[in-house]
Amino acid sequence: MMCGSLRVMVPAPLRRLCLMSANGTRIQPPGAAHMPHPIKKHSMRENFLFMGKFLRHGMKIASVWPSSVAMSCATIGKIDWERAEVIVELGAGTGAITEQIVRRLQAHTTLISIERDGDFVEVLRRRFSDHQNVEIVQADAADLDRLLDGRGIQHVDAFISGLPTPSLPAVVRDAMLASVNRLLVEGGVFSNITEIPFWYGNFYRRFFKDVSFELVVRNMPPGGVYHCRACR
Ligand SMILES: C[S@@+](CC[C@H](N)C(=O)[O-])C[C@H]1O[C@@H](n2cnc3c(N)ncnc32)[C@H](O)[C@@H]1O
Repeated sequence: MMCGSLRVMVPAPLRRLCLMSANGTRIQPPGAAHMPHPIKKHSMRENFLFMGKFLRHGMKIASVWPSSVAMSCATIGKIDWERAEVIVELGAGTGAITEQIVRRLQAHTTLISIERDGDFVEVLRRRFSDHQNVEIVQADAADLDRLLDGRGIQHVDAFISGLPTPSLPAVVRDAMLASVNRLLVEGGVFSNITEIPFWYGNFYRRFFKDVSFELVVRNMPPGGVYHCRACR
């Protein structure tokens, strides 16, 4: 499902009929040559993989279940899709937020999705490696500088973070936020999910001048997103 989408269900035989010419050959719909690959759904098995990892590793995974569509949409709600050239996702998990980014990704935008866990990276590659402009990278968020330098990326328009940023080990958190500080463009946004509503405002204000919080009730558990701009 896509955020805010209204879906009109057309039966499959009728859809096929619409794409046939009078002599029975297939008609390409407008822009079909550039149509992105359909997005592969995540499976219930992958949700339980996520839960199993949480039960075994706790705060390293930080959430019992992948983000809901409502949470994912709120997290990417401040991206300027027309202007963004580079979006970096941190802690992509099994791709709940990645899916919503990929649905809106413009041809001129590159998405780099970073995840540390090898099993989650396999899921992400299964789901998204067909998509142009999307790179799935297995790495620690602490290595952001090296990863982006190695790809010639000097500016990032939006960081979308599923990381438990306030409770990361200080050395990881400081390295990651120093990279964000160096790379985020003026007017860019750093948006980070949380499952503890309203609690971390002062934490994010230590690193950003402009911090707002968006409550998301439709998530398990309810939580929200910190949208941060203007690095200190
Ligand atoms: C709360 S989950 C969010 C997953 C997904 N973005 C979502 O919203 O469903 C946090 C994710 O961050 C990953 N993670 C935690 N620490 C990390 C680090 N230092 N570097 C990269 N990924 C990390 C975990 O493996 C986990 O997949």
